[in-house]
Amino acid sequence: MKQDPSLRVKYAMKTIKKTCPFNYAGSKSQYIELFDIDKPIADLFGGGGGYWSNVKSHDIIVNDVCEPLIKFQKRIYNADANEFESIIMFLYETTKLVETKEDYEKMRALFNEKKDDMLFMCCLSCCTNNLIRFNLSGGFNQTWGQRKFNSSMEAKLRDFRARIENKKIQFHVGDFQQIDTTGRILFADPPYLISSAGYNTSWTVADENRLYAFLKGKDFVLTNFLQRGELKNTILENFIRDNNLYVKVVKEGQMKAQKDDSIFKEVAVSNLPFNTTQIFKVEESSEVKIHTLF
Ligand SMILES: C[S@@+](CC[C@H](N)C(=O)[O-])C[C@H]1O[C@@H](n2cnc3c(N)ncnc32)[C@H](O)[C@@H]1O
Repeated sequence: MKQDPSLRVKYAMKTIKKTCPFNYAGSKSQYIELFDIDKPIADLFGGGGGYWSNVKSHDIIVNDVCEPLIKFQKRIYNADANEFESIIMFLYETTKLVETKEDYEKMRALFNEKKDDMLFMCCLSCCTNNLIRFNLSGGFNQTWGQRKFNSSMEAKLRDFRARIENKKIQFHVGDFQQIDTTGRILFADPPYLISSAGYNTSWTVADENRLYAFLKGKDFVLTNFLQRGELKNTILENFIRDNNLYVKVVKEGQMKAQKDDSIFKEVAVSNLPFNTTQIFKVEESSEVKIHTLF
């Protein structure tokens, strides 16, 4: 199994490779045990679609504050076969023209001015690691990756479309609190308070508290870091304790980033019992862990 290169993983939930063309640090595209929900759901922080494009449910609300991303996903969902082929063609033709860093930065500046979703996808196709990264003022700021829209991205985009085309999906742009979640199980994969991913720049303690207040009393599955190095997410610890929630380790190990070798523990938290409790061995140790709490 291919791992996130910034992590040295000791344990991970059983995984499968069902990636998306929209690359997110922390994408939930591989954790098949989290996909086992067939009731209507609302993915409050849809991001690259790693979760909502793979979950079993056929009735999905997708939400995110990132407007061009949601717009592009909605465009793919609504496109008929011809329109879809034209989108693919546009991505090849436009990114073919991006030969230098200056070309890329011009395109990125144009996107930041116009916020056009097709341009967003072009930037994503050409940037470093195809990774979505915004600065505090909401500008896309990922650097040039010396790449273009290519056959691998095309295959991921086709696969993504095939996974979602027969589902009932409503797309929303905005804050998670604006979503009418009546009758749905909520999936929440927010920016992690104690991590430093590129889409994380504006997530605050107040947001974390707001999210837990919103989830309280509803059916939900939440993912988050409980611990990263010296840092503990005490707000999450309290939320789990106070509401007697179920917790399951999704992944744990050691960060492998240049300036970060801290031990981390990523968990899934829910008011509903998880179907399975087994955590599969990935590397190094043969130990099998059932969730260890605090
Ligand atoms: C960890 S990513 C989600 C990744 C996604 N689960 C996947 O598998 O690709 C977190 C997302 O939350 C979004 N976000 C940040 N603040 C938000 C808010 N207040 N309401 C809704 N979405 C928000 C970010 O734009 C980002 O896409």
